[in-house]
Amino acid sequence: MDTVSTEKANSPLEREISRRRTFAIIAHPDAGKTTLTEKLLLYGGAIQLAGHVRARKDRRKTRSDWMTMEQDRGISITTAALQFEYGGFRLNLLDTPGHEDFSEDTYRTLMAADCAIMLLDGSKGVEPQTIKLFRVCRERGIPIITFMNKMDLPAKDPFGLLDEVEKTLGIAAVPLFWPLGSGKDFHGVYDLVEQQVHRYERVTGGAKQVPVTVTGLEDPALDELMDEHTAKVFREGAELVQTLLPTFTIEDFLAGKITPVFFGSAVTNFGVQLFLDRFLTLAPAPPATHLTDGTELDPAQKAFTAFVFKLQANMNRNHRDRVAFLRITSGKFERGMSVFVPRLDKQVHLANPVAFFGQERATIDDAYPGDIIGLINPGLYRVGDILCSGKPPAFPPLPRFAPEMFAGLIPTDTNKMKQFRKGIQELAEEGVVQIFQGLDGTTVIGAAGTLQFEVFRFRMEDEYGAPCRLESMPFECSRWIRSQDSAKFSSYDKIVKDEMGRMVVLFKSEYRMRNFAQTNPEIPIYDHPPQED
Ligand code: G4P
Repeated sequence: MDTVSTEKANSPLEREISRRRTFAIIAHPDAGKTTLTEKLLLYGGAIQLAGHVRARKDRRKTRSDWMTMEQDRGISITTAALQFEYGGFRLNLLDTPGHEDFSEDTYRTLMAADCAIMLLDGSKGVEPQTIKLFRVCRERGIPIITFMNKMDLPAKDPFGLLDEVEKTLGIAAVPLFWPLGSGKDFHGVYDLVEQQVHRYERVTGGAKQVPVTVTGLEDPALDELMDEHTAKVFREGAELVQTLLPTFTIEDFLAGKITPVFFGSAVTNFGVQLFLDRFLTLAPAPPATHLTDGTELDPAQKAFTAFVFKLQANMNRNHRDRVAFLRITSGKFERGMSVFVPRLDKQVHLANPVAFFGQERATIDDAYPGDIIGLINPGLYRVGDILCSGKPPAFPPLPRFAPEMFAGLIPTDTNKMKQFRKGIQELAEEGVVQIFQGLDGTTVIGAAGTLQFEVFRFRMEDEYGAPCRLESMPFECSRWIRSQDSAKFSSYDKIVKDEMGRMVVLFKSEYRMRNFAQTNPEIPIYDHPPQED
């Protein structure tokens, strides 16, 4: 495999930056994200498993799944960063939940990634959640690498899959691997760049790579590897791909114009390590950050900068604390250093930085751009906070997403009001739900999906001992407005205030909202908090 290129790295800091890869896997639920994550960790030696022999129940406890409710339900609700070493690289895998209800938290996590692996189920192609996540990556301009998974099951035609990516997502799809058959006739992959056949055999607990020497598509040795029909279809496909499709260039990839496509099967391990090796040559090292003042923040500058992209309460029941996750953007982090937090106008001593691996935590002494570290946070930090040792950089603000479901929140045990207030504040800061105050004094929570409500109610009771009731409200969308415009909305819509006191109007339907915007063009409505407020 390729090792890290340190050609341009002169200082120890530059060397550390050049070997870091910080990425997320985006996928629709069930496409195989947990399975692929597990396999990547396995290659990194981060977990020891005898292939895919564990029962489903056990597998659900993949290290990033640590909340009781997640384990009970077998879905990944919370996100964590998994860090591991492979081939001289340091990988930071941001674990984004695939469930569509967890969009805000997932979106925020993508703000910390430098590139994304878009994992598709080869029998399903591009699915709704993939589209949403893809758009966020695209808006951020991060490069996207596609892995067509489950090729060991009857899959769609590979050309059809490429076409679907191009048409649905609007990005040119350029294969770097081509599948050797599919379904029960899936034998491996052909590396279109190196012109090499990689053949696998299924063995208990995964796959074994079979050494083959095939000099090119014409080599008769290919016919020995598979039946006549599979060989014919494969040759025709691979030839067509080489003549018809655009060539891959790293510049177009890094500019987000094309996505390189790999084929494989995470569960049987066909092509996964090969993919990982190639991924590491493609994925960018932590880049410069574009600042809102038009300048760039060089990751190799001496001054330390980082931003908080996620807060998580009660990660570990034994600790019952809150953790702020930071993404380092420049400079070296050292335990015990003091940094400035511009929002608080305060110097903070970072005594207890930790790295997480699911529920396990380890104190870290140093970290570099691209790394994710957790700070035990006694309510100090907010999502979007900047920590810096030099002049505060003008980072672009982290996006907010307008919720689409709303419910009135009622405490059911009035003796627990202190816990109730603490719970709603902490869970709102984490982004589990958004909290609004009605002008009539009611508390309203907003989310992107019903499951978020359930998680909120469950955690309020389970973690804060503050039981509550949710009364669903007949609103379907929300928009921020300027406070001076609040009188211009009818009683048909509800006006609430967000946690910063900014006005938000809740509309009964999308139609009503669009209609309002059309008939009142002089009253602006915003899908993110307006700057002037
Ligand atoms: P997710 O995190 O994206 O939701 O997907 P997950 O990895 O949990 O995978 C969903 C299902 O797809 C699992 O099956 C998993 O074994 C299967 N899967 C993942 N990758 C592949 C692949 O390359 N080929 C095939 N054939 N299946 C794959 P399950 O039946 O839900 O669980 P289990 O009983 O297999 O553990």
